[in-house]
Amino acid sequence: MHKKRKIGQNGGINDSLTPSFARGAMEVRIPKYEMPEGEMLPETAYYLVHDELMLDGNSRLNLATFVGTWMEPEADRLMQETFSKNLADKDEYPQTAELEARCVSMIARLWNSPEDEEAVGTSTIGSSEAAMLGGMALLKRWRKRRQAAGKASDRPNLVMGINVQVCWEKFCTYWDIEPRYVPMEEGRYQLGVEEAAGLCDENTIAVLTIMGSTYDGSYEPVKEMGAALDRLQDEKGIDIPIHVDGASGGFIAPFLQPELEWDFRVPRVQSINTSGHKYGLVYPGVGWIVWRNQAALPEELIFKVNYLGGEMPTFSLNFSRPGSQVVAQYYNFLRLGRDGYRRIQKASQDVALYLSGKLAEYEAIELISEGGDIPVFAFRMTEAAEQSTNYTVFDMSERLRDRGWQLPAYTFPKDCEHIAALRVVVKEGFNRDLADLLLDDFERHMEWFRTHPEHKPKKSGHSFRH
Ligand SMILES: Cc1ncc(COP(=O)(O)O)c(C=O)c1O
Repeated sequence: MHKKRKIGQNGGINDSLTPSFARGAMEVRIPKYEMPEGEMLPETAYYLVHDELMLDGNSRLNLATFVGTWMEPEADRLMQETFSKNLADKDEYPQTAELEARCVSMIARLWNSPEDEEAVGTSTIGSSEAAMLGGMALLKRWRKRRQAAGKASDRPNLVMGINVQVCWEKFCTYWDIEPRYVPMEEGRYQLGVEEAAGLCDENTIAVLTIMGSTYDGSYEPVKEMGAALDRLQDEKGIDIPIHVDGASGGFIAPFLQPELEWDFRVPRVQSINTSGHKYGLVYPGVGWIVWRNQAALPEELIFKVNYLGGEMPTFSLNFSRPGSQVVAQYYNFLRLGRDGYRRIQKASQDVALYLSGKLAEYEAIELISEGGDIPVFAFRMTEAAEQSTNYTVFDMSERLRDRGWQLPAYTFPKDCEHIAALRVVVKEGFNRDLADLLLDDFERHMEWFRTHPEHKPKKSGHSFRH
C-alpha cells in the first residue's frame, strides 16, 4: 500500500533527480476538481497534463472539423512569440494592430471590395463572433431606417436557409429576432432563391446566404439572391441587404472559383464573414468580418476606449484576445500569397473529389455533394442499401474510429430528417495517401458488416450540432 503522500511536500517526493515517472505526483491520485495544496515540478505537471490529453482524438485524422490542424513550424514559432500580446491593447502593441489592419485590407480586396467604397472590418475570435457583429450592424441599420420613417421597429426577422450554422440561431435568440427559415427538400439542401424572397417583408433585416453550407459544403446562390431582391424592391419598394456567411468559402472561392460572383461584386452584399481558422489555414481562434463601406457599419456600434493609452475604436463582443492568431494569419498571407493559397486549396479539392469519386463507386453509397465547391462532401446510403444492409452511416462512423478516423454521421434538418449522412472535410494536411488509407478502412468495415450478418443497424448516433 502506498503511504498517503501530499503532492508538493518535500522529502524526496519531488526530487528533480527522481526519474520523471517515479516521482511522488505520479504515484498518487492527483486532485481533479480542487486545487492541490502544494506545488509540483514543472516537468511533472507537464507530463500529467500532456498524458491525459493523449486520450483526445488525433486532430489530423479529424475529418469532422473545418478548423486548421496544421501550420508550418515558422508560424508555430511566431505564435509562441506573440501569445502574450493582447490584441485589444492597440496602443501597447501598435504593430500587431497594424498587421490586423493589413489583413482586413487584403481580405477586402480578395472579396473584390470596390476601390471607391472604403471597406471596414475587424478580426474576431471566429465566424460566430463575426456573425453576431454583422447581424447587429444589420439590425441597427434596419431599426434606424424604420424609426426615421416613423414605422414600427419591434419585430425584426432574418431570412435564411434551415441549413444555417448554429451561430445564426444564436444570433436570432440573443437579439430577439424572428428566424425565418427556408425549408429544405429532397434534392435541395440549401436556401432556395424564390422561397427566400417569398419570406421577406418590410421587417426583414437581411437575407443570409452561405458560401459553403455546413451540411454538404455547397455554395448558396448569392448573385441570384441579389437579383431576386432587386425584383422585390422593384415590385414592393423594400430594400433588403445580403450578408454572406463565408466561414469556409470566403477563403476557397477567391482561389478556386474566381469567376463566381458571390462577394462585393454583388451590390446587395453589405458584409461578409469568414473563419481565418478554417480555410484561412490558421489554428482555432481567428475570424474576420468586412463591411462594404462605413455606411454599412453604424457608428454607434463602435466604442472608443482610452484606458489603454490612446483613444482606440473597438467593435467586438469580447475585449482581450491573444495577438498570435492574427499574426499567424498575416504570416500565411505573406508566406503563401495568392498562388500558395490556390495551390493548397486545389490540393485539398483534388483529394476531396478523388475520395468522393471512389466512394461513389460503391453500389451502397450515394453522394449528396462531391466537394466541388469547398472541399467538403457528404454521402448517404442509397435507399436500396438502407433496406438491405445491416449497417448505417452511424455504424460506419463508429467503426472508423477504431483507427482514429473521425467522420461525423448526422441527420439533416426538418423536412429532410430521414436523410442520414457522413461528411468529410478535406483540408491542408490531408493528402492522397491518407485518403487511400481511409478508403482501405472503409472497405475493411464494409467487409466486416458483410461477414457479421447478426449485426443490428444503429439508427442514430452522437448528436451532431453544427
Ligand atoms: C457556415 C458556417 N458558419 C459559421 C460557422 C461558425 O464558425 P466558427 O467556428 O468560426 O465560429 C461555421 C462552422 O463550422 C460554418 O460552417
